Amino acid sequence: MIFDIIRSRRGGDEFPDIYELYREAEKRLRSRARDYRIRNAREEDLEYVKMINYKTLPENYPSYFFHDLWSRYGKSFYVAETIDGRIVGYVMCRVELKPGFFKKFLVRSGHIVSIAVLKDHRRRGLGYALMVYAMKSLYEEYNCGETFLEVRVTNNPAINLYTKLGYRIVKVIHHYYLDGEDAYVMARPLP
Ligand SMILES: CC(C)(COP(=O)(O)OP(=O)(O)OC[C@H]1O[C@@H](n2cnc3c(N)ncnc32)[C@H](O)[C@@H]1OP(=O)(O)O)[C@@H](O)C(=O)NCCC(=O)NCCS
Repeated sequence: MIFDIIRSRRGGDEFPDIYELYREAEKRLRSRARDYRIRNAREEDLEYVKMINYKTLPENYPSYFFHDLWSRYGKSFYVAETIDGRIVGYVMCRVELKPGFFKKFLVRSGHIVSIAVLKDHRRRGLGYALMVYAMKSLYEEYNCGETFLEVRVTNNPAINLYTKLGYRIVKVIHHYYLDGEDAYVMARPLP
């Protein structure tokens, strides 16, 4: 049963190139999110990032966790902000050396630790752009050969987003979340 679900959500075998995705992200921002911009997070953004995380996800973290990711992997920590300077979304990552899902040796893998966009600002391409900016930086700045993430098996908006960006389900972790829900691990090679 679970393998049928995985198979049906696996998508094609092609991994879209991150530069192709980047051009698409820019196009989406120009057409649907003219009043927003994506930029690297600054230290003073972290309290807003934490607030968005609390509002949108059950997986929450203490302040030092956000600060640690920002100070170690700041080039892949992005925020989406309105033209009047309100932070409405973020993505934060970590780099891990681990056995590859696609390469049979240790790889530097860019772990998408958390991404969220505030409800009123969704469906404009911000989630797509945040992800693509992070993936590009994981490759260019941190030399990652793969990227991966965990997602609740019922989180269809996020699963759709990741699938569109070339991520494939590579594993199921049973009872991964504190409330007992399973997680898909989704991954793709870079670039
Ligand atoms: C997942 C999330 C970040 C998407 O952000 P967003 O800015 O709305 O995403 P985008 O507008 O860039 O959408 C990109 C793609 O994602 C998918 N998607 C986004 N929202 C969706 C929804 N409600 N239903 C189905 N698919 C959806 C679509 O494939 C969409 O592509 P399209 O615009 O061509 O249809 C946002 O829904 C969110 O913050 N959710 C709560 C936090 C969360 O679940 N984070 C992920 C934890 S693993």
